[in-house]
Amino acid sequence: MTFFWSSWITILSFGCWLFILGALLMVLKFKPEVEEDGTTGHEYDGIREYDKPLPKWWLVIFFGSIVWGVVYWVFFPAMFPKSWDGIATVEVDGKTVPWTSKNELYSDLESNNKVFTDNFEKSILVQANAADAAKTLASLSEMQATMRRSDKPPADLQTKIDENIAALAPDVVKLSENPNALKVGSRLFLQNCAVCHGSNAKGATGYPNLTDNDWLYGGEASNILTTLHNGRVGGMPAWRDQIGEDGVRAAAEYVLSLSPDHGSKSNGELDNTLVTQGQAIFKQQCALCHGQDGKGMISAGAPNLTDNVWLYGGERETVRETLRYGRAGVMPQWETKLGNERIMLLAAYIYSLSDKGVPTATATVPANAPAPKAVASAN
Ligand code: HEC
Ligand code: HEC
Repeated sequence: MTFFWSSWITILSFGCWLFILGALLMVLKFKPEVEEDGTTGHEYDGIREYDKPLPKWWLVIFFGSIVWGVVYWVFFPAMFPKSWDGIATVEVDGKTVPWTSKNELYSDLESNNKVFTDNFEKSILVQANAADAAKTLASLSEMQATMRRSDKPPADLQTKIDENIAALAPDVVKLSENPNALKVGSRLFLQNCAVCHGSNAKGATGYPNLTDNDWLYGGEASNILTTLHNGRVGGMPAWRDQIGEDGVRAAAEYVLSLSPDHGSKSNGELDNTLVTQGQAIFKQQCALCHGQDGKGMISAGAPNLTDNVWLYGGERETVRETLRYGRAGVMPQWETKLGNERIMLLAAYIYSLSDKGVPTATATVPANAPAPKAVASAN
């Protein structure tokens, strides 16, 4: 809260409190004069006022609220910002910190997370015959905590973290064969990933399909883990300034010639002169990332251009657009938001979706799959 609003509320609360206290003292001090018939002599529309004590229950609540107000001030940071932290505390990240609504939220998230993690380790990993992963997960989260806390982490720490993540790959493969793990994974997917990749994971323009065997960054369990932990940013440069509009048109025509149905039926016949010119440009400028044969390169995240799977579209004008202005699709990182255990479940789920000889898990995500409520219980 801003200084103004905290001060405003503090003054208002103190004001009310003083007013009530004052009213109480005044009533105690000034007794009304009572006439012989027991009334105060006040009469309104024929109703005469007596001087009777207030009911007990009412007084108990009245004094109780005053005491409660004081107790509240003592326990919680209820006064001008930073002038009083209150004596209430919560546990966050192993430390006892003063109560604030934010700290309480963190503390709740942590304890929910612990329930999830315990359940994951004690039942899901054990069921999937992957209990060994627990040790790797423990050392991984320790290293991540060191990374978070230190301003100047040791130079090789990130490498060690990456190695630990890669070491989880065989267990992800095991999880991908366990129906229970896939069920939780599919719910996590609906909750976190479906907004971009679609609830059936088949993607949309700019958002890759995760159910096919066409990968920008690789479909091995270790590739998927890395994608989820660190996120990815596509790096297709803009070419208009470098090769000009003519160059763009030629290179685009060559790209279309690589695709089995020339990108899209609506493209019609290709211009062979442009294709030949484009091929020269491609070998010079594009092969570096997309490969000499145009089949793409996982290390660069550069897609295969020789199939009919398009991330941004195979229509002639769309391909030209891609070349003119470049593309930079962003896959967010999930490490901080979801943690290592949920990422393993998601990776297992994604791994199970592509054709790896494992029964496709589309069967495990019904279109009417239970919404986030079910996920909350999995937490
Ligand atoms: C904000 C949108 C967005 C969300 C949310 C999102 N993704 Fe992505 N994801 C992308 C984009 C965009 C790419 C492609 C990146 C690129 O073009 O280089 C991608 C790429 C990927 C890839 C790599 C595909 C390949 O071909 O190598 C995987 C795997 C993936 N996402 C899984 C997930 C999972 C699992 C989640 C949920 C935890 C998720 N994504 C949530 C946008 C998103
Ligand atoms: C620095 C590496 C790099 C170079 C050089 C490069 N590309 Fe790309 N290209 C990429 C990446 C990475 C993507 C994916 C972008 C994304 O994921 O958002 C991409 C995407 C594309 C796409 C979109 C494919 C689809 O499925 O929609 C086309 C078409 C393309 N590149 C053609 C070319 C051509 C033609 C050239 C040469 C003029 C070229 N690229 C040069 C890295 C590169």
